[in-house]
Order: sequence, then structure tokens, then C-alpha cells
Amino acid sequence: MRRFQRLIQCLDQPPDKVMACTNETRSLPFRRQLCTLALLVGREPCWPRAALALQHRRLASVPPSLLDVQVNSGPTSNRRIEGQLNVEERRLLTESILLAPKAPQVAVEVGTWLGGGSTLHILRALHQRGSGHLWGVEADRSIYDRMIANIRKAAPEACARFTPLFGFSQNVIPQWLAEQQTGFQVDFAFLDGGNRPAEQVTEFDLLDPFIPVGGQLMAHDAKLRKGKWLVPYLKRLDHWQVTLHDVSDEGLLYARKISNRPSNRSRSSARRILLRLRLHPVEVAAVMVPSKLRGTVLRWLPKPLARRLADGRK
Ligand SMILES: C[S@@+](CC[C@H](N)C(=O)[O-])C[C@H]1O[C@@H](n2cnc3c(N)ncnc32)[C@H](O)[C@@H]1O
Repeated sequence: MRRFQRLIQCLDQPPDKVMACTNETRSLPFRRQLCTLALLVGREPCWPRAALALQHRRLASVPPSLLDVQVNSGPTSNRRIEGQLNVEERRLLTESILLAPKAPQVAVEVGTWLGGGSTLHILRALHQRGSGHLWGVEADRSIYDRMIANIRKAAPEACARFTPLFGFSQNVIPQWLAEQQTGFQVDFAFLDGGNRPAEQVTEFDLLDPFIPVGGQLMAHDAKLRKGKWLVPYLKRLDHWQVTLHDVSDEGLLYARKISNRPSNRSRSSARRILLRLRLHPVEVAAVMVPSKLRGTVLRWLPKPLARRLADGRK
């Protein structure tokens, strides 16, 4: 009976609070029961997953049926909207917010597309933690309008936590940052905009000074052209700890800031590799050839080859 009462108490708390509980609540059998109960009472789908993830090292012993919870299902599944990222990527995105030691207050993402992927999952995670706001940058007007309508439909409960920003990240981010008060910090950033590799580096360079130690950065397409520069660049910067999640053909980068600025040596090394990447013949050609001509050439090429050149797919 006492165990049941503890389970009910835990269900009423966010997963990170459960982590901070007693030895009993930390035990795997307790968490399994908690998960089952959470599923039975129709808790938000990320909840049981997050509670389980607190036992990362022992996840292997958790029954697969419990791990199969779809992050994008649950009470709002009848309002499903279009989005990218696979289930595993959505889970990693969600967990990075749910499990952050300090609840993120400011989150920004570049490239919302239609909203059902990263935007919805970041928003729901913030809402579940009960704090935080997401700014979402999108450069395509028709997609932007549909995304806003989609988010209103799929997550009305979390809409107040969302501010869409229209335009290209290179213009929008500096303007957005300039409008903030002194001491403004960005706790979480997700980069998934355009395919040109320089863009993620520019977005990172703009945001980095505003990200505090402990802040998190994630970027999609880490294995493709989009992430081709950011990954080696960031890996050389010793004020960030970088992990690559090999969970999709596209790849997901996760990085946590571990000190305020890089050492001089690592900064020089990062700049050197960036210069070398910028001078790669394919990238030089991409800058020199007018975009109209590039588009025409890509349309004429066989699809697999065009995809290889445009977004770096194998
Ligand atoms: C791959 S999709 C994003 C997918 C989305 N994150 C998801 O999880 O569903 C890339 C989006 O970025 C937008 N985009 C491209 N370049 C951009 C830029 N420089 N700034 C902002 N958005 C950009 C595109 O219009 C497109 O909607």
C-alpha cells in the first residue's frame, strides 16, 4: 500500500523531481511500475520514457514494450501534424530538455518546417517541465504560416510558450539577440535550417556567446552537407563537449557547453579546419555558381546524384 502511495505521489511530479527522490524511487523495479502506471493513466507519452531514461545505464534491462512508447502519440495524437526527425531523434530532443539539470528557460530553433518534428517536441518538453519559451525561426513564408496554424492545432496548451520568427537565421538571430535585455542567455538551441554548411556555423557563432556553461546545442543532418562544417569545427572547440548520435541516416549532433570560452589553441585549430573546409572545390563552386544555374543543373541531373550534391546524401 505504501509503495502504491509513493507511486501515485511520483506520478504527480515531473520526471526530474522523481530522480531526486529516495533510494526506493531510484530503483529499477520502482521505475518500471511507475512507467506502467504512467501508461495506464494516460500520462503525457514522454513522461514514462523520461522517467526511465533517468536510469540510462540500466535501460537494457527495461522491457522493450515500455520503451516502444511513441513520443509523438498520446492524448494529442488525433491532432498529428507533419514533421521530420525519426522517433529516436525526437526522443533525444525531448530528453535533453526533460533531463537537463536546470530547466531551460530560453530555447531557439532554426528551421521549424511544418512544426510537427522538432518544434512540437521541444515545446511539449518545455511545457512538461512547466517553464521555458521557444523561439522558432523559419525562412519560407508559406511553410511559416502553415507551421503556426499546425502548432496552434497540435499543442494549444503550449502555444503561449512559442514565438515564431520569420526570415533567414543569418538576419533573424542577430536582430532577435539585439532586442533582448542585458544578461540574456540561450539555454537550448536546435539547428536544422538550410543545407549550406556555412549556415550552421554562422548560427552557432552568433548564439555561442549567449549560451551559458551547461547550455545545450543540438543540430540535425550532422552526417550530411548541412553539418559538414559544424561537426569538425565544434569538435575542435574545447569549451564544448560533443556527441554524435548515429540514430538516422542524417545524424544528430548533441553538444554541451563546458566552459565559457575556448583555449587559444583550440580556437586556432577550429579556425584552420573551417578555412580548409571553405576552400574545398565543391563548396567554392557552390558559392561562385549563381543559384539559378545551380538549380537548373541539379534538376537535370539524375535524382540520386542531385541529392548527393545538394545535401550530401550517399
Ligand atoms: C529540414 S527542414 C526542418 C525540419 C524540422 N526541424 C522538423 O523537425 O520537422 C529545414 C527548414 O529550414 C528552413 N530554412 C532553410 N534555410 C533557413 C534559414 N537560413 N533560416 C531559417 N530557416 C531556414 C526551410 O524552409 C525548412 O522549412
